[in-house]
Amino acid sequence: MLRFDIITIFPEFFRETFDYGIIRRARAAGLVEISAHDLRRWTRDKHRQVDDRPFGGGDGMILKPEPIFEAVEELTKREPSDTNYTQGVRVVLLSPQGRQFTQALAEELAACRQVVLICGRYEGVDERVSEALVTDEISIGDYVLSGGEPAALVVVDAVTRLLPGALGSETSAVHESFSEGLLDYPHYTRPPDFRGMKVPEILFSGHHAEIARWRAERALEKTKRNRPDLLERAQREDKD
Ligand code: ADE
Repeated sequence: MLRFDIITIFPEFFRETFDYGIIRRARAAGLVEISAHDLRRWTRDKHRQVDDRPFGGGDGMILKPEPIFEAVEELTKREPSDTNYTQGVRVVLLSPQGRQFTQALAEELAACRQVVLICGRYEGVDERVSEALVTDEISIGDYVLSGGEPAALVVVDAVTRLLPGALGSETSAVHESFSEGLLDYPHYTRPPDFRGMKVPEILFSGHHAEIARWRAERALEKTKRNRPDLLERAQREDKD
């Protein structure tokens, strides 16, 4: 069982997002438990203030360290004096300054017992959070979101579908995009002729080996066109 604890100033954002499809089934099957916590719960002042002005000047407001530290300490049952988490616990800050989220990182998180996701907001988060509290600072891509919430949703989805049993017996995540360093091959279903656009003949041939080879070629072609960076990496790692 993997437990996700999301720390956010917008817990309502997550109200229904985990009630659909694979994530809903994984929750119902007890593979994963997901809770969104209001950061303001860990404030102590009358105004329940979670942010403050930046030292050194500049625009915008910065999320204060105290409520975030106390939230993580309570949710992971870590004493403030501890410097290490128990094995299998990861504390993630979602921010554009993080390292890139990848399928490999999703697989790492899927092997954990607890993943705490801290959603950044405003112009930033006090740097002591990334220095002394989080195990991983993660970005979902080179663009700036208005907050970490959509990124937390992306991480929960990508990780949950990797949990054993989440995809059901008929499908598996072993042979899909990125798992072998390339994009997926093209898929077709009925009708065989849609507005003059025909499904490639080879797929009706029944020759499994030739179909497999055709799919590999198309995957390679598409990767070359859309993601040459993936191809260069695959070549460096000496894959065929
Ligand atoms: N918060 C704002 N932008 C983000 C990004 N690209 N990834 C993760 N968290 C973010």
